[in-house]
Amino acid sequence: MRIAVAVDGPAGAGKSTIAKILAKRFNLMYIDTGAMYRGVTLLSRRNNISPDNIESLCNLVKSLEMHFLENRLIINGEDVSEEIRKPEISNNVSLYAAVPEVRELLVHLQKEMSKKYDVVMDGRDIGTVVLFDAPFKFYLTASPEIRAKRRYDELIEKNVDVEYNSILQDIIKRDFIDTTRKVNPLKKAEDAIEIDTSNLTITQVVDKMSEYIKKVTD
Ligand code: DC
Repeated sequence: MRIAVAVDGPAGAGKSTIAKILAKRFNLMYIDTGAMYRGVTLLSRRNNISPDNIESLCNLVKSLEMHFLENRLIINGEDVSEEIRKPEISNNVSLYAAVPEVRELLVHLQKEMSKKYDVVMDGRDIGTVVLFDAPFKFYLTASPEIRAKRRYDELIEKNVDVEYNSILQDIIKRDFIDTTRKVNPLKKAEDAIEIDTSNLTITQVVDKMSEYIKKVTD
């Protein structure tokens, strides 16, 4: 049977850093589903397709060949990993991710990936929808202030000129859109293990998760 690990939670809870380490530890393919929604946002904006132009949006998504290569997102042969992290994409992605037709197409793609590979997948609807029958489900949280501080430090390290307050506002706005949208809102799966990462190091979180996975796979 394939191993599938679902990691959900709000922006900045540490999902991607932690999922990448878990992937190495258990030899899993890491699938960053947020990157896929960001990729759709990038290509839509390049083609001047707004989130309410459903038909063009669907045609675009169907024309995209997306895969991950060593944790980098490749779309139609182009490595878009850097571009999808820019503020212009972060500020618009929730709008594209709220379109039910986009979600349906990407969820299908994600399910296909989980049939081909042993995966650890992070996102917002992984435990509730994409991998609803996964044996391992985690829900990571942290306060908005701590999550904003983490994003701020990350961007400052990359020499990106940002203000803490605008990041905090962006996180609060994104939490609201992600948790209140009609289709597949961010919520903890009933059978997910919740971990508050506010006062834990990355290693502590990964170790906690590994204990659960080992208990079942050993
Ligand atoms: O994790 P992230 O910040 O890269 O996610 C980008 C956006 O995509 C965020 O607004 C939530 C959305 N998203 C989603 O709706 N469903 C997912 N499975 C993953 C991300």
